[in-house]
Amino acid sequence: MTDDLAGLQAETEAALAAAGDLRALDAVRVATLGKSGRVTALLKGLGAVPAEQRKERGAAVNHLKGVLEAAIESRRVALDAAALEARLAAERLDVSLPPRPFAPTGPESGALHPITRTVEELTAIFGAMGFGVAEGPDIEGDWFNFGALNIPDHHPARQDHDTFYVPAGADGRRPVLRTHTSPVQIRTMLGQEPPIRVIVPGRTWRADHDATHSPMFHQVEGLVIDRGITLAHLKGCLIDFLRAFFDIRDLPVRFRASYFPFTEPSMEVDIGWNRKTGELGKGGDWLEILGSGMVHPRVLANCGIDPREWQGFAFGMGIERITMLKHGIPDLRPFYDSDIRWLRHYGAPVLSPATLAEGV
Ligand code: DAH
Repeated sequence: MTDDLAGLQAETEAALAAAGDLRALDAVRVATLGKSGRVTALLKGLGAVPAEQRKERGAAVNHLKGVLEAAIESRRVALDAAALEARLAAERLDVSLPPRPFAPTGPESGALHPITRTVEELTAIFGAMGFGVAEGPDIEGDWFNFGALNIPDHHPARQDHDTFYVPAGADGRRPVLRTHTSPVQIRTMLGQEPPIRVIVPGRTWRADHDATHSPMFHQVEGLVIDRGITLAHLKGCLIDFLRAFFDIRDLPVRFRASYFPFTEPSMEVDIGWNRKTGELGKGGDWLEILGSGMVHPRVLANCGIDPREWQGFAFGMGIERITMLKHGIPDLRPFYDSDIRWLRHYGAPVLSPATLAEGV
């Protein structure tokens, strides 16, 4: 190889070694092999070479071209690999790191509303006991909300619920904004064969408004229908639930005879607490938490289920109420104010779903 070719090869190889990225590499390629590149110029210049030297010179220039093409390609491969390495290093995810701590005051952080969180927790706890989740409409037929639940037209329990009515339909009956989640018991029993195990979290409505009542609130209903179901199942299920939800292993639970039209016998369920301090689990006072009972045979019959073959229990409770108790939230009204400061204070981390593994 003549000196000029050897010099060009050395210069180009030095330039390639100095090219730190793909752009710099491309500049070297263009300067060497591009339209006005130095090797291209040599090839074009072959015509001017005396005929007796042309063959040798042509072979040498072409050889140099091949060598430089290979050198450029190998530098490209090296730079590509380095770029990928750099990206992998920059975007590295350490999956062994603990999750980022929830920053309740950070402007960028969102939070789950406490109601949403409680529904997640209820679903986790009852899910572990084999319950599914059912839903129903907010606007209910009179028969679903009252009649099928053994609350006939002139039953005094109708007045217990300060009902929002909707203008009457074709049958002359006024639909209602459901006053409880119990109508979904009826829909579930009509829609599926026993055995049944469902909870029904959802919105409910009553014309009531003060520090502890809102016209829109949430309940969760529970329904179990199977053969041989007794009060013992009801008690075991609710004691387990209450202890898991409030995370107090020895939470005192009391069952007190009561009355609901759709259960017989019926019971209110109380938990132990301290009335003065609000502390749950000790203190000798009782706080009513929910209503429950054995599903009334007439309700089963209304849904086409033979009460001699199937029995069951049901319960219903206010989601706001158990949420306020669990988290020490003193006032109901801010639940619906959409005040971001309140949400950040009482909200739950979005990225840590309620699971039983860590306790809900
Ligand atoms: N529906 C009742 C209410 O809103 C709560 C309730 C009590 C539901 C007893 C039940 C039950 O399923 O068995 O006050």
